[in-house]
Amino acid sequence: MEVVILADAETVGAVAADAIEALVRRKPSAVLGLATGSSPLPVYDELARRHAAAGLSFADCHGFALDEYVGLRPGHPESYREVVRREFTERVDIDPSHVHGPDGSTADVRAACAEYEAAIRAVGGIDLQILGIGTDGHIGFNEPGSSLTSRTRIKSLTEQTRADNARFFDGDVDQVPHHVITQGLGTISDARHVVLVAMGEGKAGAVRDLVEGPVRAFCPASILQMHRHVTVLVDDAAARQLELAAYYRQSYQHKPAWQGI
Ligand code: F6R
Repeated sequence: MEVVILADAETVGAVAADAIEALVRRKPSAVLGLATGSSPLPVYDELARRHAAAGLSFADCHGFALDEYVGLRPGHPESYREVVRREFTERVDIDPSHVHGPDGSTADVRAACAEYEAAIRAVGGIDLQILGIGTDGHIGFNEPGSSLTSRTRIKSLTEQTRADNARFFDGDVDQVPHHVITQGLGTISDARHVVLVAMGEGKAGAVRDLVEGPVRAFCPASILQMHRHVTVLVDDAAARQLELAAYYRQSYQHKPAWQGI
């Protein structure tokens, strides 16, 4: 696991975009795992900017959303299908038929989850998964107690997560669904490169538990310690509780330029 402490959200977005650009130039048919929420927005902004300014093309890429609320009406502006479209895919040249998300309005959740896993496998698996982290340590919507080997399935949100996400629903927690369909921790762990981004002091405890705590279902993100290629990009505020912050800074500062993240 590499931890990179950066000055601000814009720099986090640029460093993540560097890794995605390098991947897409090396492999134009790259498969991207797409998180939603506020954390990845600087990444999507930077990718959209590079598409417009430098012709970075996603035409042959595939995208898979990490998760979806259950029960929002199709087209609801806060459904993750809509968020992914609005914040990323409609701002670049990816083929809309290459962009997938779990079906949160399905009548057969089990079948929809199995189909989602099969769709990811059919394109060869996810090359690079973008992640945020919840204040309770969730990744995707794998809440505390999630099986560390779980696959795409339905989960109940914690009240903490519902309260955190009320800001997307006019501040009204009652509008936040109780259920979601999320890629599992096993599904996320299959991605060849995981890039987790976290900004702000509110994430400092979760980032500490992810990076320096024990691997345990109580902090689902801690499963990333078992992954071969994980990059954690944080700003100063989100890094505030890291015991080895000086070491992470020093390592990144002296890293060979050819290595990338
Ligand atoms: C979103 C997702 C969640 C968020 C997390 C942090 O697709 O899976 O894990 O990444 O809840 O959300 P923000 O970035 O809004 O703080």
